[in-house]
Amino acid sequence: MAIRVVVLASGTGSLLKALIDSQDSSFEVVALVTDNAEAGAIRHAATAGVQVAVIAPNDFADRSAWDLALADCIDFYQPDLVISAGFMRIIGDEGVNRFAGRLINTHPALLPLFPGAHAVRDALVTGVNETGSTVHFVDAGVDTGQVIVQKNVDVIAGDDEASLHERIKVVERELLVEVVKDFAGAKKYFGQKADR
Ligand code: GRF
Repeated sequence: MAIRVVVLASGTGSLLKALIDSQDSSFEVVALVTDNAEAGAIRHAATAGVQVAVIAPNDFADRSAWDLALADCIDFYQPDLVISAGFMRIIGDEGVNRFAGRLINTHPALLPLFPGAHAVRDALVTGVNETGSTVHFVDAGVDTGQVIVQKNVDVIAGDDEASLHERIKVVERELLVEVVKDFAGAKKYFGQKADR
């Protein structure tokens, strides 16, 4: 039976689209939950008939009310796996605790290098020759959870943030789909680095 996947996304949603396009008998994307009513991801979900829920911070009295609403909304879809794929907010303790062990994030850098919201820019500014993508479990910190898998991406002369990020996203899409299928097959990860 297909596992139920809920995707959290705030922006363009190319990772969401890759997940939707890769659905098979092992997993189904049952909902997009977003904090942003304008997110391009909504179009991808709607086109594919995937349910959409908007949990916008401005609609809640404070941060903890939003945290709780987000967790309750995710719970409503009874996910086996929750994927933060371009979700540009920190998931609060409520969600982190409730979905522990089944909440993962994709990050556009080789963690623990370059955590935070500007990973691609930070890698470029630092002048590294390679960066990459990390899929990891979400814990209470910012991009500090256990690494599931990583893959390198070379920085090419002349790269700017957009060009580098686009090549990283190609890798992120592949890694995410791979992780979801392996998760569905109940394979275990122990922070290995993809040797490809
Ligand atoms: C990805 O690089 C993800 O790692 C980062 O935001 C990007 C999302 O891209 N947090 P998209 O909106 O799915 O195209």
